[in-house]
Order: sequence, then C-alpha cells, then structure tokens
Amino acid sequence: MKLLNRRELLGHAAGFGAAFALPSAAFAASDKRLAYPPLLDATTSRLFQLEARTGETRFDDGAASETFGYNQGYLGPTIRVQAGVETRAEVHNTLGEPMSAHWHGLVVAGEFDGGPHQAIAPGDTWKPVLDLDQPPATAWYHSHIHGATARQVMLGLAGVLQVTDDADDARGLPSAYGVDDLTLVLQDRQFNWRGRLKYDPGMHQSMNGFQGDTMVVNGQIGASAAVPKGIVRCRVVNGSNARVYRLSMSDSRSLHLIATDAGFLDRPIALNRLTLAPGERAEVLVDFTSGRDSVLKSDDIINSAMGGMMGGGGSGSPFTVLPFAVDTTLPVRIDALPGSLDGQLPDLAVKDAPVRRLSLDMSMGMGMMFSRSGNRFSINGASYDSGTLNFSTKLNSIERWIVRGAMMMHPFHVHGVRFQVLSENGTAPRAENRGWKDTVLVDGEVELAMKFEKPASAAAPYMYHCHILEHEDGGMMGQFSVA
Ligand code: C2O
Ligand code: CU
Ligand code: CU
Repeated sequence: MKLLNRRELLGHAAGFGAAFALPSAAFAASDKRLAYPPLLDATTSRLFQLEARTGETRFDDGAASETFGYNQGYLGPTIRVQAGVETRAEVHNTLGEPMSAHWHGLVVAGEFDGGPHQAIAPGDTWKPVLDLDQPPATAWYHSHIHGATARQVMLGLAGVLQVTDDADDARGLPSAYGVDDLTLVLQDRQFNWRGRLKYDPGMHQSMNGFQGDTMVVNGQIGASAAVPKGIVRCRVVNGSNARVYRLSMSDSRSLHLIATDAGFLDRPIALNRLTLAPGERAEVLVDFTSGRDSVLKSDDIINSAMGGMMGGGGSGSPFTVLPFAVDTTLPVRIDALPGSLDGQLPDLAVKDAPVRRLSLDMSMGMGMMFSRSGNRFSINGASYDSGTLNFSTKLNSIERWIVRGAMMMHPFHVHGVRFQVLSENGTAPRAENRGWKDTVLVDGEVELAMKFEKPASAAAPYMYHCHILEHEDGGMMGQFSVA
C-alpha cells in the first residue's frame, strides 16, 4: 500500500467529472513529513511585512510550476497577531499584475480590509492598520482582485492568520506551532503530465467551480503529519477554490470541534464528520494518546449545478486528506481534552431587526453554456459592479439576512462582520455553524444575524459573496457600506 503519486493519478484523471483519484484503500503514512508554513510572529513587533512574488514550485517529482506566494514561492507565512492590539502591515507587490491581501476573518474597517478596492498595483506598497478588536481565531488572507481571485489563489496567493491572546495554556489547548498545534491549508489541485499546476477552467469548471484531482496540504502532495502521543490541535483552513470537504478520521475517532471561523466555542463538540466549505476554518482536537496512527479523510462531495435542482449532497468514495503518524520523540504537552472553553456562542438580539433577503443566482440555459463572460452569476439578479454600492447599513446595527442559494451549494461570506447562523432550512444550525462565523455553506436557505461593528465607506465598501472563487469572479458578489 502506498499513496498514489502524480503519475499514477494520471490514469484516473481523464473525464468530465470531478471525482477524486485517490481510492480510500490507498493510504499509508509516507516518508514525506508534512511541513508547516513559516511562522511570522507579529505579536510583539505589531508590524508584519508581506511581499507578493512569483515562484517556481515543485509540488511533486515533476517539473516546477510557475506560482505566486507571499514572502515565498507558494502560499505565505502563518502570521500571528495579538488580539486587542493595533498591528500595522506592509504589503508590497512585485508581481506584474495587481493583487491584494484581504484579511478574511479580521474585523477591520473597510479601507484596511484588502478587498478589490484596495488593489495594490505592481511595484506599490499598501500599509493598512489592523485594529484587532476581536477574540482569538484562525483567520486567513488571500488576494481579492475581481476577476482574478480564482487564478491568483490557485497560483498561491493565500496564507493563514492566527489571532492569539496567549491564553491557550490556561485553556489546556495545544499551542506549539508545528508540533501539537498544526496549521493545515487544504487545497485540491490539478497537474498536467509534466507535473505543472494546471488551471484552465472550461465551461464545466467555470460553472461549478474548479475541482482538482490531487490533494495538496500546505502546498505539499503525499506528505504525512508527525504528531506527538497526545492531544493535537488542527487548524483546518479550506483554501480550495470550490471543493467542499466532509472530514472524518479513518478509524472513526472523533474530531473535537473547539473553534469555528471567528472564535472558540463554549465547549468542545465531538463530531464524526465535519463539513468545511471554501473559506471556512475549523479548529479541532484529535486524540493520539493511544499512540495509534490515523488518517484524515474526506468524502468526495459532488456540488454541481448539473445535478439538477436538489442542491449539492451527492458524494463519491472517500479520499485521503492527510495521514497522521505518531512520533514518540515529539513532546506531549497536552494529554487530555478540555471539558469546557471560554468562547461565547453568538446570541444576537434579532427580534426587531430589519430583514434583508439575498438570492445567490446562477443563470442556466444557452447563455450560461456558451458565454465565457457576462452575467452568469449574480446576487438578487445583479452581477458585481465595482462602481455600484448595493446597499448601506448603520454602524452597530443588527440585521437578519435570509440567504438563498440556487442550483448548488454556495459558501456565503461577508466581510467586516462576525455573524450568527440562526437557522438552516428552518431548523437549528448544525454543530459546525453554532459558533461565530464569517462564511457559511448555503444548501437551500440560511438565516443569519449580522452585527456591523466597523465602518466601511462607499469608496471602501465591504464585500459579500460566494466563496466558490469562480462564482465570485463571475459576479456572485455585492458590496455595502457601514456608517
Ligand atoms: Cu475570503 Cu471576500 O474573501
Ligand atoms: Cu473575507
Ligand atoms: Cu456559488
């Protein structure tokens, strides 16, 4: 038994569908040890610097791919910032095209948000001030240039951000970076026969979003994570363009959910399966005190508008995301699960809140099939237009948003807020959606409670959009101001 390498994948890669080529039986710990992004600790300096650059990345034993990254060839460092402290950033662009650094999960004013209105021209440096007035969380950052986000993130313009308060020891949580506190960026990719990253979405992928046939974790293929014989914390970031993961452990040990997108829960929730849509993050504890290895797997979820009107939900056979191998030479710092946590579950007062309805639309039929541009994707019938403010709202107000998704599942993301999921298709939110969120998978209809705590002017508005990046680039996005 061994992990399939890229060449062996090629035999399976043909075809129209998005099915993963890794059969569930083909996993075993490989000798390749998973590496973690370098840690860029800005907790005391209160300043960090990023530089967007091109890279030559060898994902496997094939040819090098031309990639993008922040401070490195592909992806970027894990930036650690201190909760409650004002931190400055400097983002320099050495690419030959505009890019940005959007702080997905940081609740900062619109002008510092890094969305499409804060594009950084080639050669320029952008200097935002991040007022980190929020509890600890795993956030991330990525480029956000309208029409180019999918390609730029595919090429590597993404990284992880940790908002920390240095209280993890008191919480009884693992916090040794790369030892028992693991940053895992999940991405699915596709490679050509030379081993070069391949991204050339045709009609099918433009419509449903890109789904690759090869699992890449932290920019690596076929690596295993070495873990201590104790409790291990995984900060899982879905940095894929469109793939929804439904994660589980191969021996069905639990994933103990401790934090959602925007912060800790009040207590761990033991899950057999954890759904993570593009843009979402989850922190889970996994118990390796038995000393037994295990494998993080995902169901191969089919999310396609071709599937008809029933929304997503189909699923192929599971594939390997990441094997874990217990290494007894690693220090065991935490050997028991915490009984409770100090996170506050959201409980916004929505009784008299104004209601806003948003419909995430896809146009079907001939126009959809044959036009490579145009208004295929929209919200409430309008495709994103950078010159149009879709609405404005009041600072510190609360609104109830009812968001409906057409034809398939859409991960809905809102900038500048942390929100509460009130209901999903009329019932109580599933476990993954009980904590504070900034992205939620819409499979039908969700009801959200928004509180707007930071300002965004009409010139630097916040975005709301589908986080299937091909949908976002295609116009399933809008913008609003807060004043
Ligand atoms: Cu993660 Cu508007 O994006
Ligand atoms: Cu965002
Ligand atoms: Cu979508």
